[in-house]
Amino acid sequence: MKRILALLALSFLVQITVSAQVYKDKNAPIESRIKDLVSKMTFEEKVLQLNQYLSGNNTNVNNIGEAIKLIPSGIGSLIYFSTDPVLRNQIQKKAMEESRLGIPILFGFDVIHGFRTVFPISLAQACSWNPELVTQACRVAAKEARLSGVDWTFSPLIDVARDPRWGRVSEGYGEDPYTNAVFGVATVKGYQGKSLSDPYSVAACLKHYIGYGMSQGGRDYHSSDISAQSLWETYMPPYEACVKAGAATLMSSFNDISGVPATANHYTLTEILKDRWKHDGFVVSDWDAINQLIAQGVAKDRKEAGLKAFMAGVEMDMKDNIYLENFKQLVDEKKIPMRKIDDAVSRVLRVKFRLGLFDHPYTDVVAESARYLETGSKAIALKLATESMVLLKNNSKTLPLTALTKQIALIGPMAKDKSNLLGSWSGHGYASDVVSIFEGLEKELGNKAKINYAKGCDFDSLAETGFNEAISAAQKSDVILVCLGERKQWTGENASRSTIALPAIQEKLVLELKKTGKPIVLILSNGRPLELARLEPLADAIVEIWQPGIAGGSALSGILSGRTNPSGKLSITFPLTTGQIPVYYDMRQSSRPNSGKYQDIPTEPLYWFGHGLSYTTFTYGKLNLSATKLKKTEKLTVEVEVSNTGEVSGTETVLWYIADPACSISRPMKELKHFEKKELAAGAKSVFRFEIDPARDLSYTDGNGKRFLEAGEYYVVVNNQKVKFEIE
Ligand code: NOJ
Repeated sequence: MKRILALLALSFLVQITVSAQVYKDKNAPIESRIKDLVSKMTFEEKVLQLNQYLSGNNTNVNNIGEAIKLIPSGIGSLIYFSTDPVLRNQIQKKAMEESRLGIPILFGFDVIHGFRTVFPISLAQACSWNPELVTQACRVAAKEARLSGVDWTFSPLIDVARDPRWGRVSEGYGEDPYTNAVFGVATVKGYQGKSLSDPYSVAACLKHYIGYGMSQGGRDYHSSDISAQSLWETYMPPYEACVKAGAATLMSSFNDISGVPATANHYTLTEILKDRWKHDGFVVSDWDAINQLIAQGVAKDRKEAGLKAFMAGVEMDMKDNIYLENFKQLVDEKKIPMRKIDDAVSRVLRVKFRLGLFDHPYTDVVAESARYLETGSKAIALKLATESMVLLKNNSKTLPLTALTKQIALIGPMAKDKSNLLGSWSGHGYASDVVSIFEGLEKELGNKAKINYAKGCDFDSLAETGFNEAISAAQKSDVILVCLGERKQWTGENASRSTIALPAIQEKLVLELKKTGKPIVLILSNGRPLELARLEPLADAIVEIWQPGIAGGSALSGILSGRTNPSGKLSITFPLTTGQIPVYYDMRQSSRPNSGKYQDIPTEPLYWFGHGLSYTTFTYGKLNLSATKLKKTEKLTVEVEVSNTGEVSGTETVLWYIADPACSISRPMKELKHFEKKELAAGAKSVFRFEIDPARDLSYTDGNGKRFLEAGEYYVVVNNQKVKFEIE
């Protein structure tokens, strides 16, 4: 009997030991590991997993918050402001060794357009129409981040934005849902790689879910009125695409959706995201977004705010401490069921398991010189900056500069500036890594032409004291390059502006320079479309360089000298004046297309979405359709031959749109559905192709996200051609 009892006890012990190891067993399926771990966690341990604290020095003025010195070893996540892997490892060691179950901390940070190797801002990246290149850039960002101790980036921002007064237009991919979807997916692929468990992958975070781009009047943090229809046709598509692409997490936004804050929105966070799209990662609140439910008028106190956010589907509390403070009581009061806590904890743990944090909690420590700015990374930064720049105007072949240009006046507050070229949210970028416009030009043309530099004026002071020096530099030069733009703090979070014009001093400088009679090239570095109504007529050529990152000066000088041919096309429309806002290419049709015009200014914007010039000319042949009538299940191939009819090699992006003039829901005038970019040597031609899949490309959504496809007439629209076909 004794022997039997002993045997039983032994087998029991073995069982306990085996089960004790499941969550630590790297060969066990992730779901079993999660289940095992959750079953072992105390209530307090679970709630800690749902909270994010800060660690290190926060330099973001909009997010002032004190780093909590005492980081509990069981905390779920930290915003990691440091770049030091050793410090991360020390903190992680506490979690692994001092917490009862050894659950690794998830370290997050805003890696928005690069970490140390700073790439152009996202709005610019989309102008490259090169998602593969964007994926490569994000791969670089992910590696640099991971080597600095960061496992999770709060990026991409895929908020469709049509009001350039809103400072955050710089952070997304422009005004078009499809473009945001394509570049969002490219970004997720870059950050997360083939697998999240790759040591150089970071988890992506889609933000800000959802409708933040609609902030009224472009005022940040403001209310947003979004109909169910526009939620689905405009704001949801990028999120749906990126969730399908496997984005690990999402961030809930500050705005409300017609009265229901996005951070307390059960419909978007649970019914759509989790139930319909089956997202199994987690949602983190934006900074203070849970607490702000009180200011938004839907919660009477922090406890109710926490309850509403959590029950709606926000699993992690970013720094508010509300979940930690209130969940015990909320569960005791039976307002939050334990199964909901377990589900939320499982979601957080799932991301940690997928990242491989349980098995490899520490960051490899390599010398700083080996972590950042690899030669290949800098080459990607240069290529992306080059491809993002947009030649907006080029009268009488002012550009590229020719060998006859012996003296170049380089004028303006942006000419020698480095810091502002980095752009908003430049993470851990250094101004000293940046090639300024002056440096780029010196290197490119310094031995062929004399560069006469004068600052002329500052970005926004009233002082005209530099004008004379600028005018004399201009007088002795063959061409004037005027480098204007926005300080980086003028875009990004909490950077709304009532006008998108540049400060008057910058416009005045150009007005004075114009009097010299020399050709003027405007070089613009900014994070939003600008009102150029007064500047454009003064300029012979305009190059939009955006906030191009570390390689800005080199990329621009290649374009100015003609070493590279510009190929960027706008991902957002440039209104003629601020008063035209909102103006975007995919507006719905007007009931009277020929009237309703502004009486005081032209109604057309200055540059539409898709605008961008080249040093060569491209001629489009006739659109060729494989059929003009097809069934809903059949596919249609549309082709167009494009010829490079100029003298230099160039790259053309064909933007393929569809239009549906009669549908049960009024649709935009045209909708981008596909694009293709190819380089063509001078004299060469190539066929560009779009295979239309009716279910994917012609269907539309109703206000509940249900897609439908109607029979009838459609158009395919390319360049200036519009050809009809029919769906039976
Ligand atoms: C607030 C911003 O809205 C969000 O985009 C950012 O990720 C967080 N702060 C964290 O810095």
